[in-house]
Order: sequence, then C-alpha cells, then structure tokens
Amino acid sequence: MSIADLRREYARARLDERDVSHDPLVEFARWFAEYREVSPPEPNAMILATATADGVPSVRTVLLKIFDAEGFVFFTDYRSRKGQELEANPRAALLFYWGELERQVRITGSVSRTSAEESEQYFRRRPVGSRLGAWSSHQSQLIAGRGVLEKALAEAEATFADGEPPLPPYWGGFRVAPDTYEFWQGRPNRLHDRIVYLKPGADEQPGREWRIARLSP
Ligand SMILES: Cc1cc2nc3c(=O)[nH]c(=O)nc-3n(C[C@H](O)[C@H](O)[C@H](O)COP(=O)(O)O)c2cc1C
Repeated sequence: MSIADLRREYARARLDERDVSHDPLVEFARWFAEYREVSPPEPNAMILATATADGVPSVRTVLLKIFDAEGFVFFTDYRSRKGQELEANPRAALLFYWGELERQVRITGSVSRTSAEESEQYFRRRPVGSRLGAWSSHQSQLIAGRGVLEKALAEAEATFADGEPPLPPYWGGFRVAPDTYEFWQGRPNRLHDRIVYLKPGADEQPGREWRIARLSP
C-alpha cells in the first residue's frame, strides 16, 4: 500500500472545553497517567524544539523527568547543540505524540536552567554507568570514532574508581515554564478537538486563570 493511502479514522474519545480542568497542569497529569496505562516503552519521551538566535530550528527527543507548577524538566549536556541554542534563545516547544490514544499535546514556554542542587539531586539517582557516560561524552561534538568514547569511559572509570562520579560542571537540567498548552484529540472526518490554554499576560490581573479556547482542526 502506498503511504499516500495510509490513514486512520479517529474515534476513541472526545475533548470538550466544558469537561477540561481549569488548570492545564492537571489536564496534562490526567492525560499522562492515561498514557502510562498503555505501557509504551518510554511514556516520558517528548520532542523538544529549540532554535538559534536567528531562528534556525532543531528538534530531538528527550525524557521528561519532572513536571509541576514550575514547569517541565529534562536533563542534558549544556554544551550540546540544544544547550547552546537555549542559552542564546531561551524559548522552546515540547511535543508529546500519544498515537495509541489518538492524542497530541503541545507546549511552548520560556526556558531556564535548573539549580545546580536540583541537577545534582537528579544526577545522583542515575545508574553509575550513565553518570560515567556523562563524563565521557561532549554531547553533539564531532568525534573520530567509537574508540574515542571507549577511551574516555575507561578514563572516567579510573578517575572515579570509588564508584561515585560527581555532577559534571557542564551537565544539568532545563525547565520549560509553559505559556501555552494545546491538547489534541483525534475525531472522525478530520474534525479533531483542539483545546488551548493561554497564560494570562503580565499586564493582566494577577491571579487570573488560564484562558481556555478551541482551535479549528
Ligand atoms: C527516547 C530518547 C530519549 C532521549 N533522552 C534524552 C535526554 O533526556 N537528554 C538528552 O540530552 N538527550 C536525550 N536523547 C538524545 C537526544 O535525542 C539527542 O540525540 C541529544 O540530546 C543531542 O541533541 P542536540 O545535538 O540537539 O543537543 C534521547 C533520545 C531518545 C531517542
């Protein structure tokens, strides 16, 4: 079958602005819990989009490690491409594609580094092998071959022979503080439900709730 003819009719569920929480984080938590029930291999995988200061975009998958009222956190090498782009242009978009549930969630927001304490706390939870890996790779740099990594790993193992590799100074978290959310539920005949949450602007009344609206599919 040609890929031009690959398509799916969506009929699992509906999304109504009268049923959603007034708090997008609560709605996200509900959808995330439902997705975890599906038992996908990596329920916390998300697509992260960044851009250079002059607008050249790039995307990649990262793992969501914390989400709460402060924002959505992932961990990485600050020297990587994404790290450099976020330093120059601290805005990002996140995408969760949850095909089994005929759902997608999009988030946009401003980005800041997590504190060194927070990064440290998470780093210590990682298996030792992953911690040594962080010491052995300068993420997103060109390397001559796999041997470079194996040599660096052997060096890191020797340096941290006590089995307690500390947090590398170039490694840590980024937190995306959302200013928009979009919840997408597939519906029949391509008339999908799209509910957006818009954060009240700084000039609006403090304490005002998120504005909830519907987008045309
Ligand atoms: C399922 C999955 C999860 C990943 N999680 C992370 C992550 O949490 N942090 C990270 O730095 N890279 C993660 N990666 C690797 C990134 O996709 C990417 O290759 C790397 O971060 C370099 O991206 P950059 O050159 O744009 O900085 C993951 C890849 C996959 C496929």
